Amino acid sequence: MVLFRRPLFFPLVLSLVLLLSGAEAQKPWTETDQLDFLRRHWSRPIPPQGKPPARFSPLEASLLPASCGTCHPAQFADWKESLHARSMGPGVKGQLVEMLAGDTESALGCYACHAPLSEQQEKVAGRKGGFAPNRAFDATLQASGLACAACHVRSHQRFGPPKRDGSLASELPRERLPHNGVTRTPAFLRAEFCKDCHQFSPDGFALNGKLLENTYEEWKASPFGRAGVQCQECHMPDRRHLWRGIHDPEMVRSGVSVGFSTDRERYAVGDTVVATLTLTNSKVGHSFPTYVTPRVVASAELVDRSGRVLPGSRQEKIVGREVTLDLTREVSDTRLAPGESLTFQYRQRLSSAGLTLRVAVTVHPDHFYVRFFEALLSGGAGKGTAQVREALRAARSSPFAVFVKEVPLT
Ligand code: HEC
Ligand code: HEC
Ligand code: HEC
Ligand code: HEC
Ligand code: HEC
Repeated sequence: MVLFRRPLFFPLVLSLVLLLSGAEAQKPWTETDQLDFLRRHWSRPIPPQGKPPARFSPLEASLLPASCGTCHPAQFADWKESLHARSMGPGVKGQLVEMLAGDTESALGCYACHAPLSEQQEKVAGRKGGFAPNRAFDATLQASGLACAACHVRSHQRFGPPKRDGSLASELPRERLPHNGVTRTPAFLRAEFCKDCHQFSPDGFALNGKLLENTYEEWKASPFGRAGVQCQECHMPDRRHLWRGIHDPEMVRSGVSVGFSTDRERYAVGDTVVATLTLTNSKVGHSFPTYVTPRVVASAELVDRSGRVLPGSRQEKIVGREVTLDLTREVSDTRLAPGESLTFQYRQRLSSAGLTLRVAVTVHPDHFYVRFFEALLSGGAGKGTAQVREALRAARSSPFAVFVKEVPLT
């Protein structure tokens, strides 16, 4: 009798299971579900992944970005070029060598944003307080910085955004897909996905009453935040994994507009030139720049026929939030909120003929770090010295111009 019933019974159970799992995958995610998901997703350190499912090949079990890249080459090619891939670069590593030994708690605090997977961290919190060596530590994974798995993998399960058509389901049963398929959630499309690393909590470190990292709140209060334009729309257009920001000239140009005029076409010796430069934060979804580390300089100067700058002719205005190196004081804050403009008026009497007016807007993405690394080296960076030197070289060479204009005056 049992034998007889099997062919009838089995397909029924199977289709019921498929129906139920399909219904599960299609479950609409309310806003509360998404925010709850993100709270769990970003509890750090990200717990150890544990043992991979038995059917996983070594490639599916690997957390290394290059492994993901064998099947996801487009995301890997982008990510490799991004600053997220370099979040364990020499500036961070160079400081951490000494800090890990001397002040382990602070060092692990850095990993929360720079290398958040447990497997990336040499030490873990010990059972009875203090810190213990981490047996799951993987130095190659640590060097990968903000790896794919930090955003996409928990307990060897993949998480990702809905498909481009908005659907959540897979074409095949998950157990027939590589890495058991993926759980899709619209939480990946929200600005809150980026918040844990790009926004300090309200009780976090502040100077002059303003948090040191406030990007999410700046965004939320802006016209972009109010219109629902998420971080991803500007920083991951077409789902690209580049995260271009203040280090990228084209990205900066896409966010600001520059206007320039002089009060006359031609001048005579003895006249006063009046030139006006305006710099507007037209399409940056937060303050330009958002952090205390970059500095933007609007400048004007007179240049003679041989290309030399006329002494005393240079004037400049700074856009940025300057803080002291020891982070005890805010010196000034001239950042531009979305929609805000800087107007820089240049006035200079012409003392000779053949002069050219040169105006420029120059971005120094690592302005703070140049001074910081210099101070670190002169104070003694110990075992991190070579790496901090390398970071200083890179920080010194990152400035670029987003606008330059030369106008002959006479
Ligand atoms: C052996 C090949 C393979 C490897 C290795 C692999 N994946 Fe996948 N991945 C796939 C396939 C195939 C899909 C499509 C699944 C589907 O259609 O539901 C996928 C889907 C995804 C998705 C959902 C994308 C979408 O189209 O919606 C994410 C996110 C993802 N993988 C992340 C990762 C990460 C992170 C790693 C490395 C830790 C990784 N994968 C390693 C084959 C692979
Ligand atoms: C786990 C922490 C973490 C998450 C989550 C995260 N970031 Fe980052 N992000 C970082 C760190 C750390 C850096 C700096 C890397 C470096 O230069 O060392 C960074 C750098 C960047 C930069 C480059 C900044 C520059 O100086 O040009 C951009 C843009 C950026 N992130 C955007 C995003 C967006 C958008 C999201 C959400 C989709 C996001 N990040 C999610 C940690 C994170
Ligand atoms: C809340 C997340 C967060 C934490 C915690 C954090 N950082 Fe960062 N860090 C960032 C982001 C975002 C950037 C890129 C923006 C910037 O330059 O300020 C960055 C940039 C840097 C840079 C310059 C870029 C580079 O790769 O050289 C260094 C150095 C750095 N962090 C070191 C540290 C150290 C050391 C600690 C721990 C004491 C730490 N960070 C803790 C988020 C974080
Ligand atoms: C800082 C977090 C972060 C990191 C690191 C990251 N991703 Fe993503 N990934 C996202 C987000 C957010 C989305 C959704 C973006 C959107 O819809 O605008 C996404 C989307 C995807 C998708 C779906 C793409 C599509 O076209 O539908 C795949 C596949 C993927 N990521 C794989 C990877 C791989 C592989 C790596 C490493 C090489 C990686 N991701 C690194 C956050 C991240
Ligand atoms: C409307 C487009 C837009 C939106 C939305 C947006 N950004 Fe940006 N972001 C830019 C542009 C353009 C730049 C380059 C200019 C600059 O650095 O301010 C930038 C720069 C950055 C930087 C570089 C650091 C710095 O000091 O400026 C980080 C980090 C960043 N964005 C993170 C975020 C995060 C996180 C969100 C969401 C909470 C977000 N952005 C929303 C356009 C946007």
